[in-house]
Amino acid sequence: MNIEEWEEYRYVESGIKTFIDKMKDSKLKKIAEHVCNTGGKRIRPIILLLASEICSGSYYQSLSAALAVEMMHSASLIHDDLLDQGLIRRNLPSAPEKFGHSRALLCGDYLIAKSIEFISPYGEKVIRDFGKAGMDMAEGEVLDLGLEEENFGESNYFKCIYMKTASLFAISASIGAYIGGADEVIEEHFYLFGNSLGTAYQIVDDILEFLEVVEGKKSKFTSETLPHVYMKNMSKEEAVQKSLDALKLHVDAAKETLMTFKECPARDKLFQITDYMTVGILEMFD
Ligand code: IPE
Ligand code: IPE
Ligand code: MG
Repeated sequence: MNIEEWEEYRYVESGIKTFIDKMKDSKLKKIAEHVCNTGGKRIRPIILLLASEICSGSYYQSLSAALAVEMMHSASLIHDDLLDQGLIRRNLPSAPEKFGHSRALLCGDYLIAKSIEFISPYGEKVIRDFGKAGMDMAEGEVLDLGLEEENFGESNYFKCIYMKTASLFAISASIGAYIGGADEVIEEHFYLFGNSLGTAYQIVDDILEFLEVVEGKKSKFTSETLPHVYMKNMSKEEAVQKSLDALKLHVDAAKETLMTFKECPARDKLFQITDYMTVGILEMFD
């Protein structure tokens, strides 16, 4: 699967390019370009566009919301690299490393403000849902700071990754569905799909981090990973296996929810994304 050839990917890329061009002589332009234009997978905005399409929406309607989600994600990566002392991201120096902490922090603020502009045309409900995900992400990162606490167990872990990661995947899917015209029940199903996929993806990211096989990403401090949580009570091998079992549960849940949506090429692409972001990434390290 090559997402970069998908038309949804191209729409997102061109929206981001336009945004960066419009920054003209802004002092934050180089940092925004570094963070927004250096090889991100664009998974969240693509999920939003596909969810909208499944519910009969057009890209014309949903692109600004997709860009809002990617801007919030980009800001969260800068802030995460400040928190984790991230050194390398996407094979390049992280924004704080390259531009200094103060400028990177301010670029994160700028991108969150820009995401508000991008989401503003969609009305109160969407803006509230979007704002709630942003607040959850901050709460999730605070929970992550508690990783050294002795009692940081499985339930804290899942709460943490729901908030810091899955919440943005979930609202990407549900906002896309809402813009496409879905009723409340379908919208909720899209939310559940995004939540399962986001949770699964963070488990994958954590397994790779735990096994120390990640390339192109490096930070001084690491978040609490699921295998590490399990290893408090079992061997390393058992902990990895138990994490893979947890991953499978979430991948299966995501796919079961997808099956309830209308069969169409956009739904097929969401199946492909689900495999690519989970088992697909893990297989690259087999
Ligand atoms: C990185 O997200 C943060 C995690 C949730 C693990 P992505 O892997 O989606 O980041 P990019 O934008 O594609 O680099
Ligand atoms: C990911 O945290 C969540 C957010 C960026 C909000 P991590 O610290 O696990 O992500 P990476 O591994 O740095 O991308
Ligand atoms: Mg990090």
